[in-house]
Amino acid sequence: MPLFADRYLPPFVQSYLKERATPEDPLLAKVAQWTHENTDLPIMLTGHPYGILLEILCRAVRPQVALEIGAFTGYSTIVLARALPPEGRLITFEKNQALKEVLTRHLTEAGVAHKVLVFWEEAERILPELPYHYDFVFLDSTKQQYRQDIELLIPRLNPGALLVIDNTLWEGSVFHSEEREREPVAASIDDLNQWLATHPDFRTVILPFRDGVTLALYLPRQSANTQ
Ligand SMILES: C[S@@+](CC[C@H](N)C(=O)[O-])C[C@H]1O[C@@H](n2cnc3c(N)ncnc32)[C@H](O)[C@@H]1O
Repeated sequence: MPLFADRYLPPFVQSYLKERATPEDPLLAKVAQWTHENTDLPIMLTGHPYGILLEILCRAVRPQVALEIGAFTGYSTIVLARALPPEGRLITFEKNQALKEVLTRHLTEAGVAHKVLVFWEEAERILPELPYHYDFVFLDSTKQQYRQDIELLIPRLNPGALLVIDNTLWEGSVFHSEEREREPVAASIDDLNQWLATHPDFRTVILPFRDGVTLALYLPRQSANTQ
């Protein structure tokens, strides 16, 4: 199945959006090329121009501690690590240990390895034990676990934390009841989308970008009431 954008946006619109974004950095282009040539699922890569969106969001938030779930070959990890303020740190999770060598190499080549702490396991297993509080979270992992991830994370979010969640239109399958019934991932993402849209502690919007990107700003009731 194609990404939401491939299904609903004509190729000339997608090309225009790519061409009118800030051009891709050469090192990130190299990471993308390596991923296309050496992995079975290069479609998992955020890539360009998604990386520019992540960079802008992360620079705007200026997180002291950012979290990513789903590092893969390092594209978004490098984007986020570079966008942190000088004292900022990125915690990232990648459960596929076969990616250890390439992710380490890409982070080193990008000069950001010292800003990134990589956990090589399923995030849900140790997230509740970590002592960090997050200002920025990028979820790009197992889609059915997003809601559970957010529930685990809520006690660890600083007020004003921004969640960026990938694939929340899931190839456009979330729109149609027949596809939601047929596709458990579509059903669980639609459940997440409804839950976040009505959650009193989040301000939420879905961008129809690539495969759907949700922005959810954490404003817990007590802090929202004082704004
Ligand atoms: C879509 S890819 C991430 C792409 C990456 N953000 C990028 O820009 O290239 C998803 C990755 O998340 C990892 N993953 C999936 N579920 C996970 C989990 N629960 N904990 C840690 N890693 C997970 C997968 O092994 C895979 O490499």
